[in-house]
Amino acid sequence: MRIFSGIQPTGTKHLGNYVGAIRQYVEGQDRGDPAIYCIVDLHAVTVPYEPAQLRERVLDTTATLIAAGLDPERCVLFRQGDVTEHAELSWLLTSVTAVGELNRMHQFRDKSAAQRELVSAGLLFYPVLQAADVLLYRADEVPVGEDQREHLELMRDVARRFNARFGEDILVVPEHRIPTVGARIMDLQEPTRKMSTTGGSVEGTVYVLDEPKAIEKKVRRAVTDAEDPFTIRRDPKGKPGVTNLIDLTAVARGVSPDEVIASLEGARGYGDLKLAAAEAITTMLAPVRERYAELRADEAGLEAILEAGAERARALARPVLADVREAMGVGARAR
Ligand code: TRP
Repeated sequence: MRIFSGIQPTGTKHLGNYVGAIRQYVEGQDRGDPAIYCIVDLHAVTVPYEPAQLRERVLDTTATLIAAGLDPERCVLFRQGDVTEHAELSWLLTSVTAVGELNRMHQFRDKSAAQRELVSAGLLFYPVLQAADVLLYRADEVPVGEDQREHLELMRDVARRFNARFGEDILVVPEHRIPTVGARIMDLQEPTRKMSTTGGSVEGTVYVLDEPKAIEKKVRRAVTDAEDPFTIRRDPKGKPGVTNLIDLTAVARGVSPDEVIASLEGARGYGDLKLAAAEAITTMLAPVRERYAELRADEAGLEAILEAGAERARALARPVLADVREAMGVGARAR
């Protein structure tokens, strides 16, 4: 079972990223043959950004992933821009990608609407590069969030169309794997919207690297409801704030929501729920924050890890790209 996933080099990952994606990566590294995790700096250049900052963010993300439990010996962890095969396959795949499909992608619609100066072609082609990321390794499984469903469907179409046009079984049609646990971590201030890097509220977003004090403060101020008398129960529609706090506590403790509810039987108000949530989250994240500080200080060490990962990624990618070039009649014939 080959696993591939990509993660954006945004410096600060939040609780939703941690529970929904990063922990899933950690779980995948012993199932994957191998599990391949890519920090997607080439995707990051499709929106306005600062070049010097991009390098920093890649290192931030690398350190976060390792602090959270990724072991560069047990998985392939690398930076997309270090493996030029991604860009080349991306170009080759444009030949079997419909512009109409790219144009209809929700993410493209949303992101391009937000661009003031320039809607880059890169933004439109973003999903083709994402398809190349995965297809380059003949990955079977792609663990990513629900928000990537469209990109996954497009990638599957591209693989099928490529095989139909250039030869069956050259590319593998991958499966989407959406995390079930904690897939929906909501903003603490606006519990009807997902915790997110863009557009969420700072007070409602818990970052993986937040100090325990900051976490306590954010959780203490979380929006609940005015039900009288108060009840601690799951009701995503009627009680989104309370439901989110229950779910967060459950995920952080590694138990079911029912167990959390049972543990709060004697609660005197939502304050006790918040206390439980803050404590569970802090306990889960504190070791990650501590390891991060150590890892992030050693930039040369992080670069060495990424380079070793890129070396392994290239070795996996090269033969696949060679098959694609051969099937497409591009470049000199393979001998
Ligand atoms: N687009 C993905 C995101 O924003 C990141 C990504 C890039 C990715 N390439 C990928 C995810 C390949 C899975 C597989 O989250």
